[in-house]
Amino acid sequence: MPPVAVGVGLPWDVEVDDAVAVLARARATYGDTFVVESGRDRYLFTFSATGVESFYALPEEQASKGVADYLMLRRKLPEEIFDGRRTLPGTLFRKGDVASYLVNLERALDTTVAELGESGTTDVFALTRRLGHRMGLASWAGPGCADGQVFEDLVVAFDALDGADAFVHPDGMRAVAASGQAAERSALARIVELVGDSLQAPIDEQSLFGRIVGAWADQPDVVRRQGIGYDVALIHVASMSNLASALGWALIDLVEHPDLLAAVRDGDTDLAGRCSLESIRLAQRSIMARTVLSPVTFDVGDAVHEVGPGATIATLLPLTNQTPALGHDIWDPDRWNRHRFVDTAGLASPQLVTSFGHGRHSCPAQPFSLSAMTMAMTRLVSTYDLTGQWRTYPRPVPAQIGGVARSAEPCPVSYVRA
Ligand code: HEM
Repeated sequence: MPPVAVGVGLPWDVEVDDAVAVLARARATYGDTFVVESGRDRYLFTFSATGVESFYALPEEQASKGVADYLMLRRKLPEEIFDGRRTLPGTLFRKGDVASYLVNLERALDTTVAELGESGTTDVFALTRRLGHRMGLASWAGPGCADGQVFEDLVVAFDALDGADAFVHPDGMRAVAASGQAAERSALARIVELVGDSLQAPIDEQSLFGRIVGAWADQPDVVRRQGIGYDVALIHVASMSNLASALGWALIDLVEHPDLLAAVRDGDTDLAGRCSLESIRLAQRSIMARTVLSPVTFDVGDAVHEVGPGATIATLLPLTNQTPALGHDIWDPDRWNRHRFVDTAGLASPQLVTSFGHGRHSCPAQPFSLSAMTMAMTRLVSTYDLTGQWRTYPRPVPAQIGGVARSAEPCPVSYVRA
């Protein structure tokens, strides 16, 4: 049994000043591998090179990412959204699909530029979130869902349903439970209604929405409408967890580095991709978790632990991604060669650093996300001269323990058409 971190709890169960700092302090006290007993849950956290490598090698049947995600997300998302899904977020990134999402992003950028106009001030993360909603709903919801009042109503509903609240605002989940997830259930019902209305328009069978609709063709109307609505809702919620925030940080970091911004504006897409990877690396707040389903022998380097069912094995990206002694706490896109982190001198394992994960569960949306970020960054910095109005570099939401950081404060940027 590794040491138990006495008095340490996670933000779902106890009030914490900063979720990442709490685990950093526990690591400084107890070493690279320790146990946290929080609420009714037991976590084995590991940060050693061997421990992290063992973590990424865990077989899903024995230690499940799917179950760990479900247990975290159900704090926010109503149980029924997980039941009986026929099209899952992991199946969205076949080659032809990505091309169609990028066409929708191009259109969403046209609309964004029209909304922004010639000049003004806007919040970076509000801008990227609205763009993400528009691109996503055009890609996997029904005809008309990315336009006009239907779009505005869906944005309101998805902002209420947002599953990322489970890890961005873990401290808010007790109130969500106390309400019986009333706001979330009513948002989900509204999404089913709005997506259901779009079924009246002609649907392209080859599109992702066409495939979602086709998968429910054998069901009576009420079941079919709900199944389609829940499929779309779960896919959109998955896309909301990281992409828009990642684009926000990438824009902020570019604005902070005018020489590189100029190169991206001039069309250096390789640089834009590396900037995106580097901004994500530094903005990562992800807890990576696997719920043990059957006994696991888990090697952390200086010990081998037998971990029993019910426990969760975990690591936390901000604690391994940013080692100050290696200079890894500073933004530098030259650390990346294409999609690989190459500044590995002094790092005990290359798996200690990541933006999109390692191994079998690494993000299936990585190529799409990097293409989308490159396209959006290039378009925004070439259309506008941007001036950051933040006084100091934005801070992540302190309680956040998962996903790409959200900014704790508003993050205004002023823009003038170039
Ligand atoms: C910049 C944007 C994104 C980042 C930084 C990101 C990051 C990650 C990371 C780190 C993992 C691995 C988690 C683990 O091993 O526990 C992951 C997995 C996953 N991501 Fe992403 N992601 C992004 C965008 C997206 C989008 C847009 C979608 C879907 C619409 C998506 C869907 C998924 C899915 C389904 C998995 C699970 C894969 C599996 O379990 O095998 N991601 N992502």
